[in-house]
Amino acid sequence: MKIGVLGSGIMGNGIAQVMAASNNQVTLVDISEEVLKRAEATIRKSLTKLSQKNPSIDPEQVLSRLNFSINKQDLQDADLVIEAITENIEAKKAVFRELDQLCNPKTILASNTSSFTIKEMSDVTERADRVCGMHFFNPVPLMDLVEISATNETSGETIQTAERLVNQMNKESILVRDTPLFVVNRLLVPMICEAIALVEDGTATPVDIDKGMKLGANHPIGPLRLADMIGLDTMLHVQESLFERTHDSKYRVPNLLREMVEKGELGKKSGKGFYQY
Ligand SMILES: NC(=O)c1ccc[n+]([C@@H]2O[C@H](COP(=O)([O-])OP(=O)(O)OC[C@H]3O[C@@H](n4cnc5c(N)ncnc54)[C@H](O)[C@@H]3O)[C@@H](O)[C@H]2O)c1
Repeated sequence: MKIGVLGSGIMGNGIAQVMAASNNQVTLVDISEEVLKRAEATIRKSLTKLSQKNPSIDPEQVLSRLNFSINKQDLQDADLVIEAITENIEAKKAVFRELDQLCNPKTILASNTSSFTIKEMSDVTERADRVCGMHFFNPVPLMDLVEISATNETSGETIQTAERLVNQMNKESILVRDTPLFVVNRLLVPMICEAIALVEDGTATPVDIDKGMKLGANHPIGPLRLADMIGLDTMLHVQESLFERTHDSKYRVPNLLREMVEKGELGKKSGKGFYQY
């Protein structure tokens, strides 16, 4: 298939890579040549690393199926375009409007958004039956799941095409009704926030909470170590948006999370979170 990926950040690069590695012709679009040069280098490095473990991967062959462009016009005859730009709803609506005008009427438009509903984007198009969510996980080449989300208007054919593509990438999909945070983050983020609330009220230390969930619930990594890896600023943003959207007190933001973000304790990336790095 001809696949377009809009946004060559952490997620867009990974999505373009796995789409090209599964024999699709991919065009990756971003706003500057400089960003795209970095994207190409990132993808080459990732493919080279993967090919050392799996010699059937030929980095140059995969790269030959990838085009890099700063021109959205190059997406007009794609079978499917996945939007993976910055998490900003006005920016996302603007590109959905633009892609709807630009692309072939048959093109499916998908979004990799984490916190917005797909309906917010499909509502600005005239092809709501061909809009769905395809939510990948970071790092895309290593994570096996894609959440496919459907609004009431998404057609069965659109869902089947998305499912087929996921299978082709040797990944698995789950089908989710279009709701804030879909399934995985909807369960994961409040659980992490509850763990933060337990630190805040002195129930247990981060080390013991993580040990509890690893040994008692068989999680491969404890919730607070995971929060540090995701970034506490991202955690705050996501839980805040969940609370704003649902007004459900079970999604309240723990004070400790706000305080740590205000102090610049963002987790691994800042050198300090619940642990020191
Ligand atoms: N990072 C994660 O772990 C993760 C996981 C799942 C989903 N997501 C979602 O994926 C999307 C992208 O996240 P990311 O972490 O890759 O972001 P990022 O900031 O790494 O990359 C975003 C890219 O989009 C580009 N961009 C912005 N506006 C654009 C436009 N109008 N046209 C073309 N390109 C544009 C930017 O130049 C940048 O390269 C977001 O919706 C995010 O919520 C992120």
